Amino acid sequence: MTNQDNAKKLAGEASLSHIENGMTIGLGSGSTVYWMIRKLGEHARAGLDVKGIPSSWQSAAWANEYGVPLTDFSEAQKLDVAIDGADEVDGQWDLIKGGGGALAREKIIAAAARKFVVIVDESKLVSRLGDFKLPVEILPFGWEATAGQIAELDCNPILRCNDDNSVFVSDNGNYIVDCDFGAIQEPTTLHQQLKQLTGVVEDGLFPDMADEVIVGYHGRVEVLRG
Ligand code: 5RP
Repeated sequence: MTNQDNAKKLAGEASLSHIENGMTIGLGSGSTVYWMIRKLGEHARAGLDVKGIPSSWQSAAWANEYGVPLTDFSEAQKLDVAIDGADEVDGQWDLIKGGGGALAREKIIAAAARKFVVIVDESKLVSRLGDFKLPVEILPFGWEATAGQIAELDCNPILRCNDDNSVFVSDNGNYIVDCDFGAIQEPTTLHQQLKQLTGVVEDGLFPDMADEVIVGYHGRVEVLRG
């Protein structure tokens, strides 16, 4: 295991301190969340009574594999806690997410949670958001026009493709454009500008949403609380 994988594993597993019997948990997406789901499955198999709402097919598959019972929003509209990774975390705990393309479901889950816990390895900490290209999920219909509107906010949106050059399609059946805005001075303002555009489903900025950030380093974790 690499040092970075070790850091992700420690951060993911440390987040289980937020979980109690009877909770409904938002399961984020990504390789850090993998470790959280795997550990949660161990506890569930040992008798912990929890249910998860997954933010992606991949997370649902991991939950099924490791024994985390799943539910959905028809049964629970409020979650006790959501635990998710991030692509960048700044000093105010504003986030860029969506590297895996699950940003829309991840944001719905985070917004429905009483507590939103972010788990990252140290490489995700930044002084200012924007080195990581901002993922924006858009409707396939007229995507070129929507990308054109996004470009007017002063970036160059690139349609996300798979390794075989086919267009990447999100779990919601939408496209993602990855947008280089340079250093993002005002995450909340940019988020609001993007959300106003017709054709935009969701953007990967999560300003002012995180309640706690658990940072994994090789061999230890640090818990950042407000
Ligand atoms: C997926 C995400 C992930 O949480 C983010 O990409 C971090 O992933 P990882 O834990 O693999 O570094 O937002 O849409």
